[in-house]
Amino acid sequence: MGKIRAGIVGVHGYVPDYVLTNRELETMVDTSDEWIRTRTGIEERRILKGSGKATSDMAMGAILPLLEKTGTDPDEIELTICGTVTPDTIFPDTANTINSKIGASNAWGFDINAACSGFLFSLSTGARFIESGRYKKILVVGADMMSSIIDYEDRTTCVIFGDGAGAVLLEPVEDGTGLIDEILKGDGKGREYLHMKAGGSLMPATAETVADKKHFVYQDGRPVFKAAIRGMVETVQQIMTRNGLSNATVDWLVPHQANQRIISAVAEGLDFPVEKVMQNIQKYGNTTAATIPLCLWEWEDKLKKEDNLLLTAFGGGFTWGTTYLKWSYDS
Ligand code: UT7
Repeated sequence: MGKIRAGIVGVHGYVPDYVLTNRELETMVDTSDEWIRTRTGIEERRILKGSGKATSDMAMGAILPLLEKTGTDPDEIELTICGTVTPDTIFPDTANTINSKIGASNAWGFDINAACSGFLFSLSTGARFIESGRYKKILVVGADMMSSIIDYEDRTTCVIFGDGAGAVLLEPVEDGTGLIDEILKGDGKGREYLHMKAGGSLMPATAETVADKKHFVYQDGRPVFKAAIRGMVETVQQIMTRNGLSNATVDWLVPHQANQRIISAVAEGLDFPVEKVMQNIQKYGNTTAATIPLCLWEWEDKLKKEDNLLLTAFGGGFTWGTTYLKWSYDS
């Protein structure tokens, strides 16, 4: 019997039907398809439409097929962790809402607010519960309805973000696969560059905060761009060194999808072949906590048991890091 690790035993994603194209954005703000493609790599993104719809609905859209394909009864789920910055409500959390919507009546849950690193932080947290030996089935979800906090009159942010959700099922594995190592980081000084000004205890909602558009994402893109490349490259290099990995032995790099140019710069900085880098930003834009599980979902067919994966992210906080895992199944 080997060491108990947390293995991903299934993954599924959900994106809403509505496709917001660069052409449609051209009719909304002073931008162009050409600018968006060349500066971000994004061609279209998905938007959740319909009143009464929220982040938990997209999470449910990812989880129900995941439970189905892994043959899991909702009542077997013991814990759900949801990485999100767009919870259905400030409180209660979204994870327990998800549990009630999917019928996981024996589970408890909580949210993790780590912006674009939300899935990685949630995955590591879930792994600790599995490694303790006490938990056998944990859902880890990355879900964000970014359209609920985006100003569609601000061209510097509205072209980037999209809505989506991805979920994995964690179970104990003792075959040498699973989550092996991680380097996770945070630096609160970075909050200046990427945040939402109002709606929290610092600046509660008032008629003025709404009129002043303080409930939308604010981003000073350039410093975030530079810090993102540095943060992802450094933590990938550190984790490769301490686990004796080389570019030849890493099968897949799974970067947060914030900007095609950031992804390319990270791959270049690591001298890593682009064929082994998962990228779907062109279709979905930046879905914040959902980008990494959406990639895993779309690449699931290509993943083989014991493949070495490096998941890396950078986001608001600042939060960032890299997780090393060995894939646990052949699809
Ligand atoms: O996921 C969480 C972490 N977030 C990130 O990693 C995002 C990091 N930042 C970025 O990806 C990029 O900085 C952006 C995509 C946000 C912006 O790209 P950029 O190449 O850094 O552009 P910029 O902000 O330096 O702006 C260049 C010019 C400006 O015009 P001037 O001042 O040179 O006249 C902007 O006003 O591009 C203008 N601009 C636009 N033009 C057309 C900004 N947004 C747009 C737009 N369409 N949508």
